Amino acid sequence: MEFNVKTGSAETLTGACTVVGITAPRHLSPAAERLDEASNGQLRSLLKSGDISTDCGKTTLIHHPQGHVKAARILVVGCGKDKHLSPDAFSKITSAAARALQESGATDAVSWLTELDVEDRDLAWKAAHTAQASRDVVYRFDELKSDVKPPKRPLKKLTLGVADATQSGAANKGLRNGIAIANGMDLARVLGNRPGNLCTPADLADQARALQRQYKSLKVRVLEKKDMDKLGMGALLSVARGSRQPPKLIVLEYHGGKKPGKPVVLVGKGVTFDSGGISIKPGAAMDEMKFDMCGAASVIGTMAAVAELGLPVNLVGIVPATENLPDGDASKPGDVVTSMSGQTIEVLNTDAEGRLILCDALTYADRFDPDVVIDIATLTGACIVALGKHATGLLSNNQKLADELLEAGQVSWDRAWQLPLWKEFDEQLSSNFADMANIGSNGGGTITAACFLSRFTKHYRWAHLDIAGVAWKSGDAKGATGRPVPMLMQFLLNRCGGSGRKRAGTK
Ligand code: BES
Ligand code: MN
Ligand code: ZN
Repeated sequence: MEFNVKTGSAETLTGACTVVGITAPRHLSPAAERLDEASNGQLRSLLKSGDISTDCGKTTLIHHPQGHVKAARILVVGCGKDKHLSPDAFSKITSAAARALQESGATDAVSWLTELDVEDRDLAWKAAHTAQASRDVVYRFDELKSDVKPPKRPLKKLTLGVADATQSGAANKGLRNGIAIANGMDLARVLGNRPGNLCTPADLADQARALQRQYKSLKVRVLEKKDMDKLGMGALLSVARGSRQPPKLIVLEYHGGKKPGKPVVLVGKGVTFDSGGISIKPGAAMDEMKFDMCGAASVIGTMAAVAELGLPVNLVGIVPATENLPDGDASKPGDVVTSMSGQTIEVLNTDAEGRLILCDALTYADRFDPDVVIDIATLTGACIVALGKHATGLLSNNQKLADELLEAGQVSWDRAWQLPLWKEFDEQLSSNFADMANIGSNGGGTITAACFLSRFTKHYRWAHLDIAGVAWKSGDAKGATGRPVPMLMQFLLNRCGGSGRKRAGTK
């Protein structure tokens, strides 16, 4: 799908469809006003007769508008009754518009929705979110279906209309960011949606190598089992021994900043299938454990988006990748393993495998002399109990970093909610036989998991994102979401000076 920006006025820009918003009870946006005039009052008269809904996200398609409107159709999108839209309402409106366009048969359209006033968000943000919402609507995972019928007349080109040329810079910049983020999310979704037999640790490594071929700014190295042996990654290897697929530790490096700039390091859990191991999971919905590499996928997607934009940051992605399966040689409950840090771990439950592979990756992260380290993991079912499918769980040993991530989540509308890292929870990890157990007693499962990780992140500022609830959807809409690529990208964009929020005195 192609996006661009054009300066002009709503009634004169030609195309298959022009998209405008109307707020209840009868407030026409500037572009809607011009179309109403050009169509001899058609919009107002349809509003009066109740044929246009102003409910937020309701769409009405008008074919062959009257008067001298140049476009073949007008798509009116209801914006609800608030003059200043919430960012959430804006995303809902742009998604609804994209869905209606996709069904309308119009292959190109000019959208004027970016002229709507969104609370504390600038034009670049609106442009970025229009691109992301539209790309989300057209995303399909059909690479494994043999009889795919593409939509007969898909939406191919979306133009953002702006009233004067001074706005086109911001709109174009927003589009560029939004497209890159959508590309990163698509990559994360594709990797997440691929089944365990087609997305093994080796396949993830191949994907990373493919990115290296695409972007000269990316360097990829893959550590093999023998390398992990040498480094003493006993925790990671203890998970991998139950599987016939060799584990991989994938390292992606992106240099966009001045050489001495300390990098942001992203660490993504890459369990390409989590059966639970010997502590095997119940059968219901076990297929969804193919999504247990969505943290890894979000790291790879973010690296791709950053490389596409050429952001001025230094970034490292580390992906420990393995399967977690039961086998005669698999780890058993009660086994004690030695992590790369030297700390010993009693594996009380082989299903708490994510933290075992992450702790060695987090120790490995030290060698990049990181500014901050953020790990992203589908780590605990308890996170879904605590925060449902809406929020990422955030835990950090540094409040400034936590605040940066919370802000990025708020602006990108890919939100996180912070949980505490209190020592009382950490004490729940004590073991009679090793330095710690890999599970905590007495509840607070998301927090005890993070406390476990915190024992390996003492040397740097670190945040943990538990994406168990947000990384994929279940039921009819089953599939990877691409989260939290938007939050991570906003975090990095903020560090490069672009906030998405309105600056005082600007539109
Ligand atoms: N990958 C799972 C966490 C998970 C479960 C994410 C369900 C999303 C949906 C993780 O490896 C796991 O199994 N965690 C255990 C930890 C427990 C054994 C302490 C869990 O959450 O049950
Ligand atoms: Mn598990
Ligand atoms: Zn897992």
